[in-house]
Amino acid sequence: MQLRYLKAGPTEHATDLLAVGVTQGTTAATGALAKLDRSLGGAVTRALASGDMRGKLTDEVLLYGGASGPKRVLLLGIGKAEELTPEVVRRMAGRAVRAAEKLRIEAISISLDGLSGVSAELRAQAAAEGAALAAWRFRELKTPSLDEPPVDVRAVDLLGAGNAQALERGALTGAIVARAENLARTLQSRPGNVATPTHLAEEARRIAGGVELEITVFDEERMREEGMHAILAVSQGSEEPARFIILEHRGGKRREPPLVLVGKGLSFDAGGISLKPPEGMENMKFDMSGGAAVIAAMQAVAELGVKANVIGLVPSSENLPSGRALKPGDVIRTLAGKTVEVINTDAEGRLILADALAYGARMKPAAMIDCATLTGAVLVALGHHASAVFGNDDDLVEEIIAAGDASGERCWRLPLWDAYRKQLDSTTADLQNIGGRPGGSITAARFLQEFVGDTKWAHLDIAATAYGEGDVPYLRKGGYGVPTRLLIEWVRGRAK
Ligand code: BES
Ligand code: MN
Ligand code: ZN
Repeated sequence: MQLRYLKAGPTEHATDLLAVGVTQGTTAATGALAKLDRSLGGAVTRALASGDMRGKLTDEVLLYGGASGPKRVLLLGIGKAEELTPEVVRRMAGRAVRAAEKLRIEAISISLDGLSGVSAELRAQAAAEGAALAAWRFRELKTPSLDEPPVDVRAVDLLGAGNAQALERGALTGAIVARAENLARTLQSRPGNVATPTHLAEEARRIAGGVELEITVFDEERMREEGMHAILAVSQGSEEPARFIILEHRGGKRREPPLVLVGKGLSFDAGGISLKPPEGMENMKFDMSGGAAVIAAMQAVAELGVKANVIGLVPSSENLPSGRALKPGDVIRTLAGKTVEVINTDAEGRLILADALAYGARMKPAAMIDCATLTGAVLVALGHHASAVFGNDDDLVEEIIAAGDASGERCWRLPLWDAYRKQLDSTTADLQNIGGRPGGSITAARFLQEFVGDTKWAHLDIAATAYGEGDVPYLRKGGYGVPTRLLIEWVRGRAK
């Protein structure tokens, strides 16, 4: 998508569709709305007077323009002025794109006027993100339809008065962030027979080449030499070889400790010998969502030239049943040296992450965050509206919650008390890989904690937030790219 900021008033720019936000309680066309109202012969005033546009978040009114300026004006209710956040702006931009798709318009404009309460830079960033995220589609596996192909919004002009430099900077940041998140969504959407561990590693290599990230990929032989037996154990039932992807961005001082991002890259999770039921199993192609978000966030971090050393780690494998597969009762020796009794082969994410986290901890990071579609239990705990965050450092957890609020990818903390450790006691090994039904997301996180040593660490369980039905205006059914935006926001905050 072509995204740009233009220093123009709402009536000064010729466009097929101009979207304008209207706050709740607006009864008269004042400020930026006044100019529009005049050029539309009082149509804004009439829309307000009719009660059709009361500024509620669901209100939408389409007006038709005259000889100059916008051909159509879409008034979008954006709720109470004092409750305006970047997320409201993101959604407003998403709604503008959806309306344009219905009207079959490819180039639109969005007014950033009247959205004060959010700083100029963040306003432009959020609008750029919402528009570019909304326009994205995954169509590479569909035959193009000849009779009425869906219309894509290809160009968005952000218009507005105010600090032009800040608005321009925000628009650019938003475009980079959204492009990264859309990359994550593309990788997520590719099915298991396309997005294999080898494919993810090749894509990471292609991306690294484009933005000057350093990349190293371990094959299985190298993983064996390193002692990554947990990843190898999960992968051993599959014909597809595992990969361990390492991306590096050197934006900080030479000896500055890195920030490490770890993402679960399970390219398809059938459960292994502890086979999952068939219902909904197709969604287990999304089990590499954490890895996709880490690869995508690394791309954005490089493009934004963030002044920090950042390392992305993605352990990637399949989890399938076969004559060679890992079995319940098997004991494996992890990279950290701890032994794990595998009670359930479907609790494989924590196994591949155990090796990745131990590897990350060796880099003596300033902080390490992992994200993983780790447990079905997190859906029961928090539903689809927040990822669960866990951590061994209160300040770090606070930073992540703040980054989640700012990016619109919210998370909520769950405890990691030692009391939960007992559920992981094993009769044969140092620990077992499941902790029973009570607190299933917590015992999974507690398992991970065993492998980070004293590294400041946080874990995001994204099993219920990484993909969905598309009930946010700027998303569609399928991969959501969560937590790409959160990771970028957190890294940028750390580099300030
Ligand atoms: N990838 C799944 C978790 C998952 C479930 C992600 C639903 C997205 C939607 C993970 O590997 C898994 O199978 N977890 C098990 C753990 C259990 C065996 C302790 C689960 O949650 O059922
Ligand atoms: Mn599983
Ligand atoms: Zn899994």
